[in-house]
Amino acid sequence: MPIISLSSFKGGVAKTTSAICLASLFCEDGTTLVIDADPNRSATTWAKPGGLPFQVCGEKEAAKLMRSQKFEYIIFVSPQNFGVGNYSGIQDQRNR
Ligand SMILES: Nc1ncnc2c1ncn2[C@@H]1O[C@H](COP(=O)(O)OP(=O)(O)OP(=O)(O)O)[C@@H](O)[C@H]1O
Ligand SMILES: [Mg+2]
Repeated sequence: MPIISLSSFKGGVAKTTSAICLASLFCEDGTTLVIDADPNRSATTWAKPGGLPFQVCGEKEAAKLMRSQKFEYIIFVSPQNFGVGNYSGIQDQRNR
């Protein structure tokens, strides 16, 4: 399961746009999850109207979702200072 992480100290550098575009591409090959760990929740807002061919969830829901469902691709969006503890929680699910 490849995990692609998009993070940056600087805002407005196309993290969200890239995440949505990459997820649109990868979901044609396999089930894809976008983990929106950016406090501004832009990817979540984009997904709100529904109809996207992939799932978007917050970092807190991600572990539970990854236990109940198998994803082929994970796209992870976060600010640069996302905590190491949070990463390892998600990594644990990946290793199951
Ligand atoms: N390839 C591109 N060409 C031109 N404009 C772009 C491109 N990718 C993104 N943008 C524009 O740049 C702006 C910032 O993009 P985006 O919201 O994806 O960045 P971000 O890094 O997620 O920002 P934030 O830090 O606010 O979450 C948006 O207005 C978006 O439409
Ligand atoms: Mg963003």
